[in-house]
Amino acid sequence: MMLVPAGLQLAFALLGAALVLPSLDSKRGLLSFPVVQKRSQPLHLRKRDNVVALGNVSTLTYLIRLQIGTPPQPVEVVLDTGSFELWVDPTCATAATEGQEEKCNASGRYVPNRSSTYVDQKATQHIGYGKGGAEISYAADNILVPGSNSQALRNVIFGVGLNTTELAWGVGGIGHGNGFNLHYNNLIDELHEQGITQSKAFSIALGGQYSETGGAIIFGGVDTKKFSGRLHKFDNMPPQIEGSKEGPWRYWIQMKSVGVTTPKGFVSTYEYSTMPALLDTGSTWSYLPQHIFDSLKEDFNATLSEDGSLEVPCSMVDQSGTVDFTFGDLTIQVPYSEFISQLEPGYCAPGVLPRKGSYDRAVLGDSFLRSAYVIFDQTNQHLYMASYRDCGTNEQTLSGEVGAALNLTGQCHSSHHLFASIPMCWFIAPSAFVLWIFALFL
Ligand SMILES: *[C@@H]1O[C@H](CO)[C@@H](O)[C@H](O)[C@H]1NC(C)=O
Ligand SMILES: *[C@@H]1O[C@H](CO)[C@@H](O)[C@H](O)[C@H]1NC(C)=O
Ligand SMILES: *[C@@H]1O[C@H](CO)[C@@H](O)[C@H](O)[C@H]1NC(C)=O
Ligand SMILES: *[C@@H]1O[C@H](CO)[C@@H](O)[C@H](O)[C@H]1NC(C)=O
Ligand SMILES: *[C@@H]1O[C@H](CO)[C@@H](O)[C@H](O)[C@H]1NC(C)=O
Ligand SMILES: *[C@@H]1O[C@H](CO)[C@@H](O)[C@H](O)[C@H]1NC(C)=O
Repeated sequence: MMLVPAGLQLAFALLGAALVLPSLDSKRGLLSFPVVQKRSQPLHLRKRDNVVALGNVSTLTYLIRLQIGTPPQPVEVVLDTGSFELWVDPTCATAATEGQEEKCNASGRYVPNRSSTYVDQKATQHIGYGKGGAEISYAADNILVPGSNSQALRNVIFGVGLNTTELAWGVGGIGHGNGFNLHYNNLIDELHEQGITQSKAFSIALGGQYSETGGAIIFGGVDTKKFSGRLHKFDNMPPQIEGSKEGPWRYWIQMKSVGVTTPKGFVSTYEYSTMPALLDTGSTWSYLPQHIFDSLKEDFNATLSEDGSLEVPCSMVDQSGTVDFTFGDLTIQVPYSEFISQLEPGYCAPGVLPRKGSYDRAVLGDSFLRSAYVIFDQTNQHLYMASYRDCGTNEQTLSGEVGAALNLTGQCHSSHHLFASIPMCWFIAPSAFVLWIFALFL
C-alpha cells in the first residue's frame, strides 16, 4: 500500500517508548503465519493522482490473522511491506461497496474495553493511503503468538481505527519501524526485542493467484521449500523519493531491467528499465513508468481500458509467456498466468499500471511478488530474492548475521514452465525414438 506523503511527517508521532518487559523465550527463533487470500471488489485504480473505481471486478488481497488482547480477539489485516504501522478496526460503513462492507464486517474487530491488557496510549494519528485513509488512536496490547496456547508478544503498540474511509481491512505495516520511520517499536521491532526472532528479518511467499495455500510469512526465518535456486542478496536502498533525499525507509531494490518472453519464445528487454523498485505486498498491481507500460501494452497486444488499465483476451492466461524482471544476475520470470488477473468473467488485465509522473521509479506489487520469494532483512539492510515455488515446508531460523541467508538453497525444482520442456521435446523425442529403434536391432 502506498502511503501518501502527508501522512509521513505525522508518522513520527511523539509516543512514549514501549515498555520494557520480560522477553519471551522461543526455541526456534521464528514465527510463521499463513497468508490468507481474500477476493474483493471493486478494484481501485490510480488515475493520474486520483484513484478511480473499476466497476464490478474482483482483486486479490493478502492478509494475516492476528489475535489481539486478553482474551485474544481475532482480526485480519492486510500484509503490507509498503507501510510500517499496524492498525485494526476500519469503519466498515465507509467501505467502497456493500460487498466490501460485508468482507470488512467479517474480518474481525478488536474491542479495546474487552481486553484486560489494553493500555490507551492517548495519542491519535492520521494515515493516508493512495485511496482512503485512517484516523487512529494508539493502543498497546498483547498479540498472541500463533501455535502457542498463551505465549504473547506484550504491549505492542498499534492503532485502533476511529474513522477510516474506503478501507475494508486494517493494515499490518511491516516496513522499517523504530529508528527509521517511527519513534516507537512496530511489530517487527517488538518480535525482535522480545526475543521471538533473532533478527529483524522476515520472508514472504504470497502464494499463487489461484491456490488458496502456499503463502506464508515467517518472521525471523525462511522456508527453503518455497523457492528454487540460491537466494540472491541485494542492498536495501535508502529512501528514494524523486528529487529529494527525504521520505521514509522502504524496501527499495535496484532493478536492472524489465522485459518479456513471449509464448513464441521472443525475448525483449525494455530500454531505460533500470531503476529503483519498491517491493510492496500491499499493492495489488505493479506500477511501472509510462514507457515500460507502453512497451508491455504492445508486447501483450493489449487494449487500453477507459480507466487506464490494460485488457487482454482471457485466453492469454493459459499461454506460456513470462514478464521478466531482472535484479543483478537474477531474473524472476512471472508467468502470464500469475501476471494477468481475471477480474470478472471474460475480462482479464495484466497486473500493471502506469506510474504517472515518474519515469525512473517502479512499484512492484502482488502481480510481481507472487512469483518471487523475498527475505526482508532490516538488521543488515539487505533484501534476498529467489523464484517462488511451493514444494512443501522446511522452515529455518535466520540469525542476524550478514549474509546468513546466502547459505540456503531452495529445495524446489526450478522448472515450473511447462513450455520450457516443449521445445526440448522436439529435439529429445526424435533422438530417443532413434535410440529405441536402434535398441531393437541389438
Ligand atoms: C457485480 O457482481 C456481483 C457478483 O458477481 C453481481 O451479483 C452483480 O450483479 C454485479 N453488478 C454489476 C453492476 O455488474
Ligand atoms: C455490517 O455490519 C453492520 C453492523 O453490524 C450492519 O449494520 C451492516 O448491515 C453490515 N453490512 C453488511 C454488508 O453486511
Ligand atoms: C466499550 O466500548 C464501546 C465502544 O467503544 C462502548 O460503547 C461501551 O460503552 C464500552 N463499554 C464499557 C464497559 O466501557
Ligand atoms: C470521518 O472522516 C471523514 C473524512 O475525513 C469526515 O467527513 C467525517 O465527518 C468523519 N466522521 C466522523 C464520525 O468523525
Ligand atoms: C492484436 O489484437 C488485434 C485485435 O485486438 C488482432 O486483430 C491482432 O491479430 C492481434 N495481433 C497479434 C500479433 O496477436
Ligand atoms: C556459510 O556456510 C559456511 C560453510 O558451512 C560457513 O563457514 C559460513 O560461516 C556460513 N556463513 C554464514 C553467513 O552463515
